[in-house]
Amino acid sequence: MAKSWFGKRLKLTERGSTFMIELHADTAIFLTMAYILAINISILVDFGATCFFSDCNNSHQCASSYQSMSTSPSWSRASLKVAHRHGPCSPLHLKQNPDHKQILHRDQSRVNAIHARTTTKSLRANAANSIPDHTGDSLGTGNYIVTIGIGTPRRDRSVIFDTGSDVTWIQCEPCRSCYQQREPLFDPSQSSTYANISCSSSYCSELDLSGCTSSTCVYEVQYGDNSYTTGFLAQDTLTLTSSQVMPNFRFGCGENNDGLFGEAAGLLGLGRKKVSIVSQAFQKFGGVFSYCLPSTSSSTGYLTFGGGSTSSNVKFTPMLTDPTTPTFYYLDLVAIYIGGQRLSISPTVFSNAGTIIDSGTVISRLPPAAYSALRLAFWRLMSSYKSAPAFSILDTCYDFTGYGQVSIPTVALQFGGGVTTNLDSSGILYVASESQACLAFAGNSDASDLGIIGNVQQRKLNVVYDVAKKAIGFGPNGC
Ligand SMILES: *[C@@H]1O[C@H](CO)[C@@H](O)[C@H](O)[C@H]1NC(C)=O
Ligand SMILES: *[C@@H]1O[C@H](CO)[C@@H](O)[C@H](O)[C@H]1NC(C)=O
Repeated sequence: MAKSWFGKRLKLTERGSTFMIELHADTAIFLTMAYILAINISILVDFGATCFFSDCNNSHQCASSYQSMSTSPSWSRASLKVAHRHGPCSPLHLKQNPDHKQILHRDQSRVNAIHARTTTKSLRANAANSIPDHTGDSLGTGNYIVTIGIGTPRRDRSVIFDTGSDVTWIQCEPCRSCYQQREPLFDPSQSSTYANISCSSSYCSELDLSGCTSSTCVYEVQYGDNSYTTGFLAQDTLTLTSSQVMPNFRFGCGENNDGLFGEAAGLLGLGRKKVSIVSQAFQKFGGVFSYCLPSTSSSTGYLTFGGGSTSSNVKFTPMLTDPTTPTFYYLDLVAIYIGGQRLSISPTVFSNAGTIIDSGTVISRLPPAAYSALRLAFWRLMSSYKSAPAFSILDTCYDFTGYGQVSIPTVALQFGGGVTTNLDSSGILYVASESQACLAFAGNSDASDLGIIGNVQQRKLNVVYDVAKKAIGFGPNGC
C-alpha cells in the first residue's frame, strides 16, 4: 500500500510542477522523506476505483456487502439493508438522479429549516441565507433508503430514513394529491390488519399537528418549508425482517403529500419523540438502533434495531437533549483534529452553538470560527494541489484531473467523554467531479446557529444510538 502510494505520489509531483525536474538529488531525497512522514497523517483516495454517488449510473454493479445478522433469541434485533437513494444499489432504480448542485442546494434548505426550528430569532435563518427555500426541498436530501413491510399480506415499500423527524408515513390510496413514487401506493383496504386510529385516542393527541374527520384522527407533518404530508393516523403490522414483526405499528397513511421525497414511498421517523419507531419499539429493541451509511452508491450499509452485541471498538459519548427540540439527537462536539493536529478553536465556539447528529443533512455544518480554522489548515496541508472554484456551499475545492490517487489529511472529530472519531476519506472530500473535489464541510452564517454532523461525515462509521443509556457511539469500518 505504502509502496504504491509512494510511487504514485512521485509521479504526480513530476506531472504537477515542471520545476521538480530540475531539483537536486538531495533535495528530492529530502522531499521523499517528508512524504514518508506524511503517511501517518494523510489518507489515500483512489479516484479510479471509486464511484461517487450521482457520478455513478445504474450500469455500475451494486456490490452488496450486506449480510443478514444472526438474531439472538434473548434480545430482539432486526437489520435492514441501507442504500443510497441514487445509484445501482437503490431499490428505487431512479432513471434520473439529481446532480450535486441540486443535492447541496436542497441540503441548505434542510439546514435552514433545522436552524429555524432551533433558533429563538426564528426569521433570521431565512433572511441571512442567500439560498431561498423552495417548496418541498427540505427533506429531498434524505439520501438513504431502507425497505420495510407494511400490512397483511406484507407490502414492501422503500422509505427515506430520518433521525431528524418522528412520524413514519407512507403514501396511501385513495390518494388525493401524491407526488410520483416508484412503487405502487399502499392500499389500506387490501390489508386485513389495517385500522384507523380514532380522534379520542391518546396517540392522536401526541401528534404535533392533528385533526379529526368523522371521528378518525388526521395527522399532518410540515417539514419546515412547504413540504408536507397529511392523511389518516393508522395502525398496521410493520415487518422489519421475517422474524421481527411489530403488530399495531402507528404511522401516517398519507393521502395528500408534496415535496421532493425522491420517489420514495414515504419516510421512517427515527427521532426521539413518542410517535417515532424508536419509541414505539422501545419494549422490543430497548431504544437502541445503529446504522452504517455506505461510502459509495454502489455499496450498501445497514440499519439495525436492537443492541445486543455492540462491537467493543464503538466508543460512546453522552446523548444530550434540548427540551425545545426534543426530536433531535444532541451531542457535545469539543474539538477537531486535522493531520493529527488539534485545531485551535475555543471550546465555547462549539458549546455556544450546540451540535446535533442528523442522518438527513448531507454536509456537516460548523460554527463560523470552527469552519474557518478547519478550512485554513486543510488549505495549507493541500497546498501542493491545484485549487478549483467553489462548488455550491463548498468553498475549498481542488482540481485532481489526471491524478490516479491523491493524499489528503486525516480529519477527526472529538466529542464529550474523550471520544475521538476518525472520518473515512469519503467523509472529508466531496467529489463533485475529478476537477472539483471539495472539503466536505460548511460554515454556518451565524455563530449561534446549531452545528450539524451530516451524513457525509458519518459514511462507513458504525453509528449507535442508545436512547435508554443516553449515549451515541462511533465505531470504525461499519460497512
Ligand atoms: C454509465 O457508466 C458507464 C460505465 O462507466 C459508461 O460507459 C456509460 O456511458 C455511463 N452512462 C451514462 C448515461 O452516463
Ligand atoms: C379510515 O377512515 C377513513 C375516513 O373516515 C375512511 O374513509 C376509511 O374507510 C377508514 N378505513 C378503515 C379501514 O376503517
